[in-house]
Amino acid sequence: MSAKIIDGKAFAARVRAEVATHVARLQETQGLTPGLAVVLVGEDPASQVYVKNKGIQTREVGMNSYEHKLSADTSEADLLALIARLNADPAVHGILVQLPLPKHLDADLVINAIDPAKDVDGFHISNVGLLGTGQKAMVPCTPLGCLMMLRDHHGSLAGLTAVVVGRSNIVGKPMAQLLLADSCTVTIAHSRTKDLAEVCRRADILVAAVGRPEMIPGDWVKPGATVIDVGINRIERDGKGKLVGDVHFDSAVQVAGAITPVPGGVGPMTIACLLANTLTACCRAHG
Ligand code: GUN
Repeated sequence: MSAKIIDGKAFAARVRAEVATHVARLQETQGLTPGLAVVLVGEDPASQVYVKNKGIQTREVGMNSYEHKLSADTSEADLLALIARLNADPAVHGILVQLPLPKHLDADLVINAIDPAKDVDGFHISNVGLLGTGQKAMVPCTPLGCLMMLRDHHGSLAGLTAVVVGRSNIVGKPMAQLLLADSCTVTIAHSRTKDLAEVCRRADILVAAVGRPEMIPGDWVKPGATVIDVGINRIERDGKGKLVGDVHFDSAVQVAGAITPVPGGVGPMTIACLLANTLTACCRAHG
């Protein structure tokens, strides 16, 4: 038996279409256009690609996109001054500072300088606290996209055993909070977890977010489980560059009940959720 393939690309297109409909209505009824500011410091090639795609998709749904590209040696004071300007700008409803930042900049300090109401990444300490206590928060985009796909596939997640492999602030920890809020029994596993294979085999929902190519083989997957693969790893195979996930797809697809592919699974959902968060921030700002 082969698993159902969860088509994140098609799902993300539906989310973007819904966002575009709302944006058009806001424009018609209130003369309001949501605006997203993206700040990129330095020239990391992967970050440049992400930022470019964010800009394209933001404009495609009818929002304003403001891109701020700063040199790698930008001082913390200059970056904080830009964030203060964006916080005060009524045309900007969402602010995203692309990570990773160059080493001389304190990412926590920079993120916590963003107005929490405009923090469309959901990384500000206020939003982290709101999410952890079940209050209305900006929710990080990648875990939000995973949750939307899981709810779409399962309906209710209540009572399911979920294992999140990876404990990052961007994916692992907020993913675990969201699954807990949906009444899953949640384990966060990581590189130091003992008997990781056994822990994974207990999961009805297995979320892999470790950033290690094909680390999780099919025999770590419980038969019929739903596998969400957050990894996007570029590897060389047969002399060609290839994108693979954190899960060994060819073996896992034989065992799982449903699985997200890489590419075309979680990846497209992240930007779609960023646009949805920007719309939410705009609606909340204008009551
Ligand atoms: N770098 C990798 N993923 C992300 C993300 O979701 N948001 C930001 N700001 N930077 C990232």
